[in-house]
Amino acid sequence: MSLERFSRRELIREGLVAGEAAALTLLGAHGTLAGNSPLIINKPGDKGPFKLGILGCGNRSKSHISVLNDVSEIDVAALCDIVPHKMDQRAKLIRKGPKPRKYIDMEKMLQQEDLDAIAILTPNHLHKQGTIAALEAGKHVFCEKPMALTVADCNEMIAVSERTRRALQIGTQRRHSNAYKKAVETIRKASVGKILSSDVNSYRGDWRVPEEDEYPPGVEYWRLNQDKCGGVVYEMGAHTIDVNNWIFDSEPLTVVSLQDVNNLALRTRSSTDHGGVLVRYASGAMMNYGGNLYAYGPSGADYFFAVNGTITLTAGELDIHYGQARGFPTQKPLPKPVKMKLPGGGDGTMDQWTYFARVLAGQADPYPDGYMGRQSIQICQGAIASAQQRIVINVNELA
Ligand SMILES: NC(=O)c1ccc[n+]([C@@H]2O[C@H](COP(=O)([O-])OP(=O)(O)OC[C@H]3O[C@@H](n4cnc5c(N)ncnc54)[C@H](O)[C@@H]3O)[C@@H](O)[C@H]2O)c1
Repeated sequence: MSLERFSRRELIREGLVAGEAAALTLLGAHGTLAGNSPLIINKPGDKGPFKLGILGCGNRSKSHISVLNDVSEIDVAALCDIVPHKMDQRAKLIRKGPKPRKYIDMEKMLQQEDLDAIAILTPNHLHKQGTIAALEAGKHVFCEKPMALTVADCNEMIAVSERTRRALQIGTQRRHSNAYKKAVETIRKASVGKILSSDVNSYRGDWRVPEEDEYPPGVEYWRLNQDKCGGVVYEMGAHTIDVNNWIFDSEPLTVVSLQDVNNLALRTRSSTDHGGVLVRYASGAMMNYGGNLYAYGPSGADYFFAVNGTITLTAGELDIHYGQARGFPTQKPLPKPVKMKLPGGGDGTMDQWTYFARVLAGQADPYPDGYMGRQSIQICQGAIASAQQRIVINVNELA
C-alpha cells in the first residue's frame, strides 16, 4: 500500500481502533471536519470577554495567568484544584475581570459556571479525563502538553472534540513563538533541499522540589512517577519533538528507543531521567532525539541535516551552512550562509492565548490541534514500548 495515496488525516485514521474510527465518521469526504461541521462558538458580543476556567492551579498556571492578564479577550473566571490554598495564591495573581470562583471539584465548576473554555493544567495522566469532561460539558479546551500518555487517549479526546464540535488546542507554545515561527519560515525557504535527519535534544537539570503542602498528604510528586508523567521524553521531549514534527512536516512511522533511570544520585523515581529515541518519518527523514535531567549549563543546539546544507537552531539563533559532497565537480556557487538572530517576544505562551481567543471567536482553527499533539504522543508512547520490549515500534499499531 503506497503511503502517497493517503492524506495526512487518512494516515492518522489508519491508526485508529474501530470504535474511535466510528466516532470520526463525522469527517467529510476530504477527511476534514472544518468545512462540514464548524466549531460551535460563543461570540463575546455583549457578554464581554470569554470566560476561562483553569483546571489545575499548580506551577504552570502562574505563567498562564500572568500572560492572560494582558489578553483582553479572555478573563479567568473560575479556578479548580484539589489543594485549596493554591487557588487562593493564583487568585491573587489575576489582575482583571471579576473575582474568580474557586472549586475543588471539576464537575461542580463545569455545572455551576457559565464558562466558554477550560484550560487543562493538571498532571499529564489527568489530561484526558479533564479534557473529555470539559468537552462533554460543551466547553472549548486548551490542554497543556503532552496531550495525553497514550495514542488511544488522544484518539478519544479528538473524537469527543469532533463529536461535540468544541475546540481542542494543545499547549506546545513554540508553535506560536516569533522565534520558532521565523526559524521554520526561513528553513522552508532555504535552498537546503530535502531534510534527511535531525539531532535534537532537551537536556536540563532535575525537576524542582515541591513545597511540603503543595499536594494532598501522601500524594507523591507526579513527575517522579512514570505512570503519571511518562518520563523525560514525554515531559520535555514533547516540546522538542513537536518542533521536529513541524520542521519535518511528515508523519512518524517507526520508533526505536532506550530509556531508563540513569542518575541514581537524583531523587528516587520510577520516571525515566534519560532517553534516546530514533524515529523514521514517512518522508524518509530520521530524528535522533536525546533527553536527560542531569545537564547543567546552557542547553545544546538542534541540528537538521539536509541534502545541500546543515541547519543549526538554538533558542536565539538560526545558522544555515551550505555545502556539497566532496569529490563532485562544483555545479554552481554555494548560497551564502545564513546567520540570523531570531526575534524575541516570549516563548509563545502569550501568543497561544491571543490565538486561542480567535479560535473561541470562530476566526481560526485550533493550532496546534489534537492531531499534531497526537503525533508527538505516537513517538513518546512508541519510545516507551520500544524501550520496554527492546523492539522497533510501528506507530500505526499503537492504541
Ligand atoms: N508548556 C509548557 O512549557 C509547560 C511548562 C510546565 C508544565 N507544563 C505542563 O502543565 C501541566 C501542569 O504542570 P505543573 O508544573 O503546573 O504541575 P503542578 O504539579 O505544579 O500542578 C498541577 C496541579 O494540578 C492539581 N491537580 C491534580 N489533580 C487534580 C484534579 N483532579 N483536579 C484539579 N486539580 C488537580 C494539583 O494539585 C496541582 O496544583 C503538566 O501537564 C505539564 O507537563 C507545560
